[in-house]
Amino acid sequence: SAKDSTVVVVLGASGDLAFKKTYPALFGLYKNSLLPQNFSIVGYARSAIELADFKSRVSSRIKASDEEKKLLQEFLDKCTYVSGKYDEAESFKRLNAAVDEIQKSFTGRKHRVFYMALPPSVFIPASQGLKEWVYASDGNNRLIVEKPFGKDTESSRELANALAQHWKEDEIYRIDHYLGKEMVKNLMILRFANVFFGAVWNRQYIHNVQITFKEPIGTQGRGGYFDEFGIIRDIMQNHLLQILTIVAMEKPVTLDAEDVRNEKVKVLRAISPLTVDDVLLGQYGPSPDGKEEGYLDDKGVPKDSVTPTFAAAAFYIKNERWDGIPFILKCGKALDQQKTEVRIQFQDVPGNIYPSLKRNELVVRVQPEEAVYMKFMNKQPGLSSTAVTSELDLSYARRYKDVKISDAYESLILDVLNGDKANFVRDDELDAAWKIFTPLLHEIEGKKTIKPEIYAFGQRAPDGLSAFVEKHGFRRDAAY
Ligand code: BG6
Repeated sequence: SAKDSTVVVVLGASGDLAFKKTYPALFGLYKNSLLPQNFSIVGYARSAIELADFKSRVSSRIKASDEEKKLLQEFLDKCTYVSGKYDEAESFKRLNAAVDEIQKSFTGRKHRVFYMALPPSVFIPASQGLKEWVYASDGNNRLIVEKPFGKDTESSRELANALAQHWKEDEIYRIDHYLGKEMVKNLMILRFANVFFGAVWNRQYIHNVQITFKEPIGTQGRGGYFDEFGIIRDIMQNHLLQILTIVAMEKPVTLDAEDVRNEKVKVLRAISPLTVDDVLLGQYGPSPDGKEEGYLDDKGVPKDSVTPTFAAAAFYIKNERWDGIPFILKCGKALDQQKTEVRIQFQDVPGNIYPSLKRNELVVRVQPEEAVYMKFMNKQPGLSSTAVTSELDLSYARRYKDVKISDAYESLILDVLNGDKANFVRDDELDAAWKIFTPLLHEIEGKKTIKPEIYAFGQRAPDGLSAFVEKHGFRRDAAY
């Protein structure tokens, strides 16, 4: 009702994620009148920061046009800050008093969202303290958790069990921000709302699927954190595997979160654990001109680290739709460009009568420059009858000129406020995802027998990649 109120508590409010993503996303929603009425934000972190300082740090990371300046001021008026510890009752009681103070004048239900932008070492005590001292007694409580959700099957289960002691699965929102990206959200519609894609979406017509993530930057001082995780955990096990499940899943019975996630879990369960033969690992060295440091030069990284900053892996889904079809996932830092895309390569035309046909491909470009395009054969216009490759091209910049694509975090925070969990990771989904990677990760890290292939900062990919993808059936210049 109009008397209800909602407070979002941002834990880790003085950290990079909060300034870079959480607050700007909340402002983006505010600006578009998408936040609920009687809404406030309480930042919480260890550092003692004056409120005015805190607000100027928040606003320095928000892009606001001249017309939006007034809105930004209104938004900042809704922000407060409390400093405290993550493992101390007194601190949480102070936080609770601040939240109570804001909500006391509203007579309706008092909802609370807890956004944990925190390092994993304090996840558990913080979630416990929140439950004990800050939990709303009359209203919805929602807990947003950021990765890493553990490091392997066992540690992830430990974390899940610890969270489950205080929070119901129904209240927990595990963020994978790729699920908030426009083109990732588009995948289900492309597949399930178009009769022609639905008809060919199987092993009979699809030859292979490639899902690629590239970044032109290295670890940029985050090496200490990164070295403990590596690219497989940082990108592949979460972001790329999520995309894979949406590309591969059966049509859910409804769009309800449980129906969607049931189908995703089934895909994951049909994938066998990876072995060393299924992967190619790389690590970046310095750029050839010496201007960019290699991974081992990052201060936080041990000099003998074998942590991969690039990985390619082939997944096979053992079910009726996909048996034998490779899903090749590739991700790497310090490569030649920023690009995330899904590329579906179709089978050869049976009984082909044209010389040098190329395979059809459907590409969904997630970023940058969102697009859906299809490579197909077309008659060379004019008097020739040659079949040539052309493109059906839906580039968003051209087709949807006036639409601003929202940041993934805006979309996901809005989902939390609406209680929609379809784009969040369920506990059994996480478990199934870890099972695919855990034996391989233990093998890489325990025996350290697999040395990553060194590639130069800014290279297109490690040299071994072409052979790797070909071994798994991809034809780069797929003419036949
Ligand atoms: C994060 C990873 O989850 O995703 C980072 O920890 C990576 O290493 C980032 O840079 C990429 O996200 P985006 O949205 O910039 O593609």
